[in-house]
Amino acid sequence: MSCCKVHKTFKGGILKRKKPVRALVDINFDVRSGECFGLIGPNGSGKSTLIRVLSTLLYPDQGQAHVCGFDVVRKPYRVRELISRVSVDAAFFKKLSAWENLRYSARLYGVPLRIARQRALDVLAELGFPARRFNDSMEDLSRGMQQKVAVARALINRPQVLLLDEPTTGLDPRSKREVETYIERLRKETELTIFLTTHDMYEADHLCDRVAIIDKGRIVALDTPKMLKQILARKRGSDHVSLEDVFLELTHKEWVEDVEEDETDKKD
Ligand SMILES: Nc1ncnc2c1ncn2[C@@H]1O[C@H](COP(=O)(O)OP(=O)(O)OP(=O)(O)O)[C@@H](O)[C@H]1O
Ligand SMILES: [Mg+2]
Repeated sequence: MSCCKVHKTFKGGILKRKKPVRALVDINFDVRSGECFGLIGPNGSGKSTLIRVLSTLLYPDQGQAHVCGFDVVRKPYRVRELISRVSVDAAFFKKLSAWENLRYSARLYGVPLRIARQRALDVLAELGFPARRFNDSMEDLSRGMQQKVAVARALINRPQVLLLDEPTTGLDPRSKREVETYIERLRKETELTIFLTTHDMYEADHLCDRVAIIDKGRIVALDTPKMLKQILARKRGSDHVSLEDVFLELTHKEWVEDVEEDETDKKD
């Protein structure tokens, strides 16, 4: 999976009432097959936009993105066959049960129902989802349970690439740990390529082979968590540097620039 010089700007609408937003600026990276690649960055820095480009839901304005060798703009259907995405707030048919939602996905992907059911039950058991809630309607399940169903749904078609957009945001510590442990297992025991966005520095540090830091649409650092920490540790002459320190160091300048922009506005 790769991005080469990808740009995406959201225009200010037809009437141009809003300022355009440069959500992605010159994004370049390669994700190796089987790698767990993390993307961290402040709110509004472009993480979900990048995931939407990779999952063919948004076209880039410039540049190319490839998933499993297929161009996301030219071959969106091939890409969709090979990927699954779990978004921060997954969409379901709320009145239908967990299994009915899963069955719907299985039908879409042509997975035989018996196999789909067993796959889903296996994943959900590992995630600590109570089997007795399998036939409850989605609206009766807690957010954590819904998120676990979303993960099971994403794996029902045995994708080659799993795009996880903040999969553990809003989960209680136990559910969060269960999802993290499961991602860790997928990373170690399968060939699945994982692209993970998170606000949790523990996750980025412990689950990801490499991490990119994005700030205002630009990738400002990309390396293994160990190297990212080492570089800052050397700069500071200290041994005690966390990934959170790296994040704060590379993304903390926003308010200074905002003030400068405000002052320029006043002069105008
Ligand atoms: N459909 C859209 N129309 C206009 N602007 C958008 C749209 N989607 C995203 N944006 C803007 O693009 C920028 C990047 O948004 P994005 O959702 O990718 O950020 P994010 O890094 O995922 O943030 P968060 O951590 O809060 O999830 C933001 O300024 C956002 O307001
Ligand atoms: Mg987001």
